[in-house]
Amino acid sequence: MNTHLYPHNTVVAAATAITSVDAVLGYMQPTEARPYNYAYEPPAGIAWENYAHDNREVRILDARHATAQSSIHHEGFELLDASSELRDFYDRDTIIRRYYPEVAALACSATGAKQAFVFDHLVRKREADRSKLGFGRSNKGIPATANGRVHNDYSEESGRKRLALVLGVKTAELNRNRYSIVNVWRSINGPVLDTPLAVCNARSIDVADLVCAEVRYPQRVGEIYLLRHSPRHCWSYFSQMNNHEALIFKQYDSQVSGVARFTPHAAFDHPYTPPDAPLRESIEARCLVIYE
Ligand code: OGA
Ligand code: FE
Repeated sequence: MNTHLYPHNTVVAAATAITSVDAVLGYMQPTEARPYNYAYEPPAGIAWENYAHDNREVRILDARHATAQSSIHHEGFELLDASSELRDFYDRDTIIRRYYPEVAALACSATGAKQAFVFDHLVRKREADRSKLGFGRSNKGIPATANGRVHNDYSEESGRKRLALVLGVKTAELNRNRYSIVNVWRSINGPVLDTPLAVCNARSIDVADLVCAEVRYPQRVGEIYLLRHSPRHCWSYFSQMNNHEALIFKQYDSQVSGVARFTPHAAFDHPYTPPDAPLRESIEARCLVIYE
């Protein structure tokens, strides 16, 4: 299909009938050194990152055509039909005051948890001239761009430590219940035609595929997983996600077996993006949920 021959609307219509696409995802090649990424401009003489990329073409299924719906505790991701009261996602205080409670309610109903604490969010606006396979870091006051590196936002260790960071050390010590960390991702600029987000079925990953990596922030160092490529990985996305939909995906679960624990994800360059498609804008909120 040659997308350039079609006017905008025709391409959109044709693309919805397509059940999968082949696109490049940004895997990594593990090396001896512990991998790191800077989330801000590194000190003079230090590189932004220290590992080799392994960009692979993979098949990404359009989960809208899947025969069975995926779920947060099995495949690790779930699409929710849940519109937001918010119209303006560019005011931080409003997001915290009005959007966080919506996310907390969604996270509880999707996971079955009793309590939810939204602790962070990120608004992204894809930048036209920045590589889609980049790490998606923000640049001095400019929103973050899309993140094309396959990653999971927490590792076994940073997921475990997050409880005390969110609840405070004393409360965390008292809590012996199962908890999870989930992301809630939503378009804030209409149907996503440009640089959608792909998610990897949590059941298709092996612990050996997960590589601990540092994310260096000005005040602290976080730990995430980057991914080593495996042909077993099963990738999906939801075509043309719109503002009234939210994708929830699991980033950590304190329960170590029988449930999805890590759901790697990455933005990708969709082969049928119309040339005049608006650049993707999205918000992702991170939420810790407790089950009892
Ligand atoms: C996320 C994430 C990347 C993107 O939501 O955790 O990594 O490009 N998103 O939206
Ligand atoms: Fe992420």
